[in-house]
Amino acid sequence: MLTLGGALRPSSDRPLGRWNARSPTSARDRSLYFVHFFPTLFGKDAVAMQPPVVCTPRDRSFTNPLSSIRYLKPGFMSVQIIVGAQWGDEGKGKIVDHLSKDVDIVARYQGGANAGHTVVIPTKGPNGVTSKEYVLHLIPSGIFHRHVTCVIGNGVVLDPVALMTEIEQLRGLGISIKGRLLISHNAHLIMPYHKLLDSIREQGENRIGTTGRGIGPAYIDKYTRTGIRVVDLMNREVLCRKLKQNIEEKNELLSKVYHSQVLDVDEIINEYQEFDKKIDEYVTDTSAYLNSALKKKKKILAEGAQGAFLDVDHGTYPFVTSSSPTSGGACTGLGIPPTAITSVIGVVKAYSTRVGNGPFPTEQLNETGERLRKVGGEYGATTGRPRRCGWLDVASLRYSIRVNGIEKIAITKLDVLDEFDEIRVCTGYKVNGRTMGNFPTDVQTLESVEPQYRVFKGWRTRTSDFRSYAKLPAPARKYVDAIGSMLETRIWMVSVGARRDQTLIVK
Ligand code: GDP
Ligand code: IMO
Ligand code: MG
Repeated sequence: MLTLGGALRPSSDRPLGRWNARSPTSARDRSLYFVHFFPTLFGKDAVAMQPPVVCTPRDRSFTNPLSSIRYLKPGFMSVQIIVGAQWGDEGKGKIVDHLSKDVDIVARYQGGANAGHTVVIPTKGPNGVTSKEYVLHLIPSGIFHRHVTCVIGNGVVLDPVALMTEIEQLRGLGISIKGRLLISHNAHLIMPYHKLLDSIREQGENRIGTTGRGIGPAYIDKYTRTGIRVVDLMNREVLCRKLKQNIEEKNELLSKVYHSQVLDVDEIINEYQEFDKKIDEYVTDTSAYLNSALKKKKKILAEGAQGAFLDVDHGTYPFVTSSSPTSGGACTGLGIPPTAITSVIGVVKAYSTRVGNGPFPTEQLNETGERLRKVGGEYGATTGRPRRCGWLDVASLRYSIRVNGIEKIAITKLDVLDEFDEIRVCTGYKVNGRTMGNFPTDVQTLESVEPQYRVFKGWRTRTSDFRSYAKLPAPARKYVDAIGSMLETRIWMVSVGARRDQTLIVK
């Protein structure tokens, strides 16, 4: 018998399911909203009577276009988005963990278990405090801070097997998940046939070099409107009908086109019903939850997976993932309004890496590339594949900053460059001897560009022991400052090691 659990019971059973019970707008919130939006109806004193709120022009107020008087939004909206500004693996996990100490909620908005976000936290052992490394694939990187609620948004494709493994691992480490993890009822599920199709397609000629986690096929089903969502687990009849339709269709494809094994419908139905019992307590309407949290002035961190150049719209298509890692994806992937976004932080590795196929203009297929891989430990956190390595590419980053609206940058892994005599940065591209104005996202052009490099002197000093940006060796600061100037964007933080304490704020 399928459990209908505490989360989303059918309306006949409990009209106000958990997600409705948590539903945002209290009568007071609604009245405040009206008072602020229609002050003429209530008189200006009504606005003045509201609790004092600091009003800054950029993000906490809006202008009524009719009267050009500035009114306050109902409550502070505070959503920071963390995006990978390159090809993923920039160190987003570390930066999200760092920021989590000051936020209430961390919410993942896209991708799935293709992500591998590493967080290194101090642990007390018999020999004093040591560091332990954790790799998260689905659960947001705020989970190591007890006060943080973690949300898996509707934009994520959820692999039950990966999720349960991750929950069990965290429990085993003594990290409490209960009441701290919320999963969107609208998130799509990754099915065994998605993984199978992903791996079969990757055996063909036009390989992307995917992680094999079923991401592409799951998003295909989402957009052809045949996908199965978490909410479908709640109704046995619906689940069986949808699964049968899907599996019959996939079995045709598997046997007739790919000449592969077919799948057993009943086995999958049983497996997913078991999963329903396990995740029931976490499922809710996360969009309603997040919007309610915004009204309560909670601080939200939206955690992107992958990176800008892997974005299905803005990346190096077709060598991309199947979701929207850029900042725009946060609103659709979480069900929050664009007006709630207060800042976008881009995570940039001090050099470049890429996993999988596709153009990579500054790739170093030589000793330099091998050295970056070795010193930087550049092996995939999800698949263990060696990452392709090369110099930092400011020409591509300008584009990333534009499509993401990045206002602040966190530079990671500066310490990996410590022992280099000279460090190169690509400042622009030439094609057939002509300088390119814009970053080309079409693969053919990008594969033929000649990167133009600016050379920096290395600092030949171990930076991972420094605890102040101002005290870093002058050539290291020169490198970081030059990146900020070339990108015309503030460098807010520099990371000189994987640990929490190896984080320098640039004043
Ligand atoms: P993510 O996917 O963006 O979260 O990044 P990954 O976790 O896949 O890869 C980043 C790797 O670099 C992880 O092994 C981190 O522990 C490590 N890392 C993060 N910041 C630094 C840093 O400043 N220096 C060094 N040496 N390693 C770092
Ligand atoms: P995080 O969040 C780096 C790459 C794959 C492949 C392409 C498509 O840890 O930064 P997919 O399995 O998504 O269909 O593969 O995207 N890729 C990543 N590369 N970091 C990631 O995640 C990645 N997730 C996917 O290598 O080239
Ligand atoms: Mg990663």
